[in-house]
Amino acid sequence: MTIPLVDLKAQYDSIKEEIDAAIQRVLQSGQFILGSEVKAFEDEMAAYCGAQYAVGVASGTDALQLALLACGIKVGDEVITTPFTFIATAESIAKCGATPVFVDIDPKTYNIAPEKIEQYLQSRQITSHQSPVTALLPVHLYGQPAAMERILDVAGKHNLKVIEDCAQALGAEYKGRKVGSLGDAGCLSFFPSKVLGAYGDGGMVVTNDPEIAETVRILRVHGSKTTYQHVMHGFNSRLDALQAALLRVKLKYLDRWNELRRSKAALYTRLLSQVDGIEPPYFEKNCKSSCNYYTVRIKGSRLDRDELRKHLESKGIQTMVYYPLSLHLQEVYKYLKHKSGDFPQSEQAQEQVLTLPMYPELSEEQIEEVASEIKKFVNR
Ligand SMILES: Cc1ncc(COP(=O)(O)O)c(C=O)c1O
Repeated sequence: MTIPLVDLKAQYDSIKEEIDAAIQRVLQSGQFILGSEVKAFEDEMAAYCGAQYAVGVASGTDALQLALLACGIKVGDEVITTPFTFIATAESIAKCGATPVFVDIDPKTYNIAPEKIEQYLQSRQITSHQSPVTALLPVHLYGQPAAMERILDVAGKHNLKVIEDCAQALGAEYKGRKVGSLGDAGCLSFFPSKVLGAYGDGGMVVTNDPEIAETVRILRVHGSKTTYQHVMHGFNSRLDALQAALLRVKLKYLDRWNELRRSKAALYTRLLSQVDGIEPPYFEKNCKSSCNYYTVRIKGSRLDRDELRKHLESKGIQTMVYYPLSLHLQEVYKYLKHKSGDFPQSEQAQEQVLTLPMYPELSEEQIEEVASEIKKFVNR
């Protein structure tokens, strides 16, 4: 039996008729960029996220950059974020001309540690008259909400914007509220493997701030409010009508799919919690993870994460390491002059995490098979 990391074909098969009908509807309409499908999807997404505005863009990466720009992030600013994330998080900060400032993660949740944010801000206040930090960019990694209450509290005290990277966390809840609507702006990705995946690239900014929404709308069409009237330099970053129409079909199923993901995660955890050296993910009690990824930690000197990966691969079980090299150690960030040991929790996580197959259609037998192969490896 082959068990893929994600199975997009199984999902398509389950909603094939509706997807095919939506494709036909868009092809017949002759409108392929922005337009009524995108507008309808934006309205539905704003309602879903509990935000007032939603603006569709070309990718999650663009959502981050446009949201940062719309929040006023500029050359010379510092934006605090996590080193344990996908490159797009920090890249978007750098592309605004600002400096990504990494602080370490909480080893339990893999998300940015609020006390480390505070420590950095305190050190900055001591060394410079006016701190150049203008925003915080927490990531809800694997679908688990970051510690938003404390993050928002720090942001309030220091007058900082908060941009949430929700690429892996659409539908996740923090104390009963959907992520994305908690900070100044939330950034979504519709990359195919995400919980709401397009058949191509796509992204979105959600916000309760009318000015941020309006600026993102202007930025996504070359800085123009009215056709051929340009008020700033912008981007070509529009959401395709085809993707919007397909995502509208999928959005109706999202809560059910996320619920299924959580139940699959619970089964994995039941099967793996007694296995020596395997630490299942920690889920905060007052949060609901989207469970985009189910990531375990391989602990102890006896178990080698990469050997376990190889063993699972030999049995047809796909896994992935999100992420094998923390961002502060990436060549592109050499100029920040970090070294090994600067963020020990992030560096330990990169050596130990392993993401197992996870998708709503994953069967109990498949989960049992994955768990059984892990146990075999551990007890070999
Ligand atoms: C945490 C995180 N941020 C940002 C992105 C960027 O999204 P996209 O691939 O849609 O540009 C991704 C997805 O790949 C991600 O996982």
